[in-house]
Amino acid sequence: MPDQDRVVMRTATVEERVDAIQAALDAKGYKTQEAVEDLSHKAQEEWIPRNGARMVARAWVDPEYRKRLLANGRDAALEMGFQMPKHHRHLVVLENAPNVQNVICCTLCSCTAFTLIGLPPDWYKDLQYRSRVVRESRTVLEEMGLKLAPDVEVRVWDTTADTRYMVLPERPAHTAGWTEEQLAAIVTRDSLIGVARL
Ligand SMILES: [Fe+2]
Repeated sequence: MPDQDRVVMRTATVEERVDAIQAALDAKGYKTQEAVEDLSHKAQEEWIPRNGARMVARAWVDPEYRKRLLANGRDAALEMGFQMPKHHRHLVVLENAPNVQNVICCTLCSCTAFTLIGLPPDWYKDLQYRSRVVRESRTVLEEMGLKLAPDVEVRVWDTTADTRYMVLPERPAHTAGWTEEQLAAIVTRDSLIGVARL
């Protein structure tokens, strides 16, 4: 076959595909650049674990708020001015106890209550975590640095599109007399997912 008839096939790079999709959407009048900037702003500045941490701290100092939080997490989040997308129809808040450790996962993909606990970390989306935490939760937690006594019951909760979870960790004993602000500062993302204790 003469050289000029050869067709060289090449797969487009991710960047080229993104540009092509963006150009197609822009041609239809969607403002893709603005949407991308808005989304990354929200992901970095607004959807942060600090929100969930503040809800936990409030629950630790205000027994009435704690009751409302456990009864209807979504309303309790909105009450503090935090947003949840419409399709996050339920926020179930899971209360830890000395002998109960709640852990969240999403076996199908990567769902979290991301406006409250932040976008999911890479390990949460990893097939290893998603498949193993439901079958050998105690071992997985130990590998992640959380060694639980044998009498602690581990409860694993599998997130769905419309039902999101957040763990309410136990308040550490050494924090008596702390302000809500001080308390919020010690609540970590991992403790809200349930793979760490405070
Ligand atoms: Fe998911």
